[in-house]
Amino acid sequence: MAKICVIGSCSMDLVVTSSKRPHAGETVLGESFATVPGGKGANQAVAASRLGAEVMMIGCVGEDFYGTEIMENLKRNRVLITNVEPVTHTESGTAHIILAEGDNSIIVVKGANDLVTPTLVERALDVIKGSDMVLIQQEIPEETVSYVSELCHKFNIPMLLNPAPARPISDTIIENAAYLTPNEHECTILFPGMSTTDALRKYPNKLFITEGSNGVRFYDGEQEVLVPTYKVNAIDTTGAGDTFNAAFAVALAEGSSIPDSVKFANRAASLSVTKFGAQGGMPTRAEVEANL
Ligand code: RIB
Ligand code: NA
Repeated sequence: MAKICVIGSCSMDLVVTSSKRPHAGETVLGESFATVPGGKGANQAVAASRLGAEVMMIGCVGEDFYGTEIMENLKRNRVLITNVEPVTHTESGTAHIILAEGDNSIIVVKGANDLVTPTLVERALDVIKGSDMVLIQQEIPEETVSYVSELCHKFNIPMLLNPAPARPISDTIIENAAYLTPNEHECTILFPGMSTTDALRKYPNKLFITEGSNGVRFYDGEQEVLVPTYKVNAIDTTGAGDTFNAAFAVALAEGSSIPDSVKFANRAASLSVTKFGAQGGMPTRAEVEANL
């Protein structure tokens, strides 16, 4: 069983479905509203757990109703939460999502996720040292990502950074990461002025560019490889990237080859979009294997 340590955000997603996305100054009538657990960190933790990994989450929630719900949801999904801290005077992170015209748009309010500090991570040092892989994203402060990257480098633990949402990051983080998984937009922010081909060639078997329904592109040291993904009827693509990253981390941590790990992750992500909610469609191990 792979041991995965996820360091990142835990949020509540407030999701509205509408046939139309409002323009500035416009009011439209939506169809439905739902509150479902989300946050890139928690999503990746839940996805990895459903895929059979032992998952320890490091994060923060507010001492509020959403915080309690977020913790309960992690527990139900067998994610270990001894390092998820409830913090006072700050609300739980929320994501305000509009599902309209076949795509999502999201405003994230970080709340307690901004308190995932290097100090908080330091308290869980033993967990990190005992992991096969550390999985991290960018809904927490950059200094924390930087600190974690140093730790992982020092203790020789592979770190997979999902650089989402997009922001520029230091060369140190890029060097310390074992795997980077930007989408095309995030890639241009990560490597300004560099073509994707040049970026891929600079980081063979480390940089994996996710191109949505097109698949995933990387450079294997000899050639550029595009691993196509599976065609499905997408209901809600929220959390597809999180499912991909979690599945990729689990497969790599179990010792699968890079091409096999990408294929496994593509399959998991494609299954995830067939149901509503970031975590709604995240598949179990058996479901992925039955469809490979
Ligand atoms: O990656 C999807 C997640 O990003 C959502 O669950 C939402 O919380 C946003 O932060
Ligand atoms: Na989904």
